[in-house]
Amino acid sequence: MLYLNGQFVNRQDATISALDRGVLFGDGIYEVIPVYSRKPFRLDEHLHRLDASLAAIGLPNPHSIEQWAALVLETIARQDFDDQSVYLHVTRGNAGERDFPFPADVAPTVMINSSRLVTPTPAQKAAGVKAISHGDFRWLRCDIKSLNLLPTVLLREAAKRAGCAEAVMFRDSWAFGLEAASNGAAQSAPQRYLSEGAASNIFVVKDGVLLAPPKSQLMLPGITYDLVIEIAEANQVPLEIRPISEAEVRSADELWMTSSTKEVLSIVMLDGEPVGDGKVGPMAQQLDTLYQAFKQQVMRGGD
Ligand code: PDD
Repeated sequence: MLYLNGQFVNRQDATISALDRGVLFGDGIYEVIPVYSRKPFRLDEHLHRLDASLAAIGLPNPHSIEQWAALVLETIARQDFDDQSVYLHVTRGNAGERDFPFPADVAPTVMINSSRLVTPTPAQKAAGVKAISHGDFRWLRCDIKSLNLLPTVLLREAAKRAGCAEAVMFRDSWAFGLEAASNGAAQSAPQRYLSEGAASNIFVVKDGVLLAPPKSQLMLPGITYDLVIEIAEANQVPLEIRPISEAEVRSADELWMTSSTKEVLSIVMLDGEPVGDGKVGPMAQQLDTLYQAFKQQVMRGGD
C-alpha cells in the first residue's frame, strides 16, 4: 500500500495525472528515510529538510511535521517487511495545463511509498566499491532535494557502465567562491573542488584527518553527513570541514560515500586508480563500527 493524496491505495491503483507538474517539470521535492525494525531513522531531521526544500521552491508544506510523522508511521505499519526505505514526494500538483509559473489554488500531489531497504552487502562493505569522477553539471541549488534527477540518472548510468557504484563530482573553484589555486605556473589549469556524489555525500581521509566539504548550495545537506560528523566529533576523530581540492581527493588515503541507504561505504578505486592502498581503511572501519553501534542503540533498542 502507498499513500497518495489523502488515502492508502494498492500500488497498482496509484495513478497521477499526466499533467502533474512533477511529470511535466520535475516541479517538486522528495525525501528518502531509512527504517530499521519499523523505526524511521532521524525522522525529524528528514522532515525538517523536506520542509526547507519545499520552502526553497515556494511550495507550501501540505502537512505539519507531526502530520508527516503520523503518515510515515502509518505507511511503515502497512508494509509486511521491517527494514524499509520510505520515499516522500510532493509536487506542485496538476493545473490542467503546461504553464511554467506557479498555478493558483492547485492542491499539491503528495505520495509516500515504502520499499525494502537495500543497504550495502557485507562483501561490498568489506571490499569497498569503485567510483568514477565527473564534472558536476547539475544546477547551483543542489541543497534542494528536487525531483529534477536527470543529472543523477545520467551520472549513475555512466558509473554503472564503468562497473562502478557512484560518480564523485568536482566543480571549478569559482562555483565555491574560491580563487583558482596558483602553483606558480602562469598557465596552470583551474583547480576543481569536491562537491558530492551523484546520490551521496563524500568524505576524504588524509594523514589521519577526516575531511568533509562544508555545506553550501552546491551539495545536499546529508542527514548521514551530519551524523558522521556528530559521531566523529563525539569520538575525538580529527576533523576538518573545508573545501577539498580534486588533488586532495586523488591523493586521499580513504574516500567514503555516505547516504541514508548506503550508510558509510568506502570507495577504494577512483577512475581505475586505487584510493590509498586500495583497501577499506582503518578510519572507515572505525566510523562504520561507531555508526552501526549508534544505529543499533537508537533503532533496535540495543538487541
Ligand atoms: N540520496 N547527496 C545527494 C545528491 C543525494 O541524493 C543524497 C541522498 C545524499 C545523502 O543524503 P542523506 O544522507 O540524507 O541520505 C547526498 C538519496 C538516498 C536518494 O536519492 O535515493
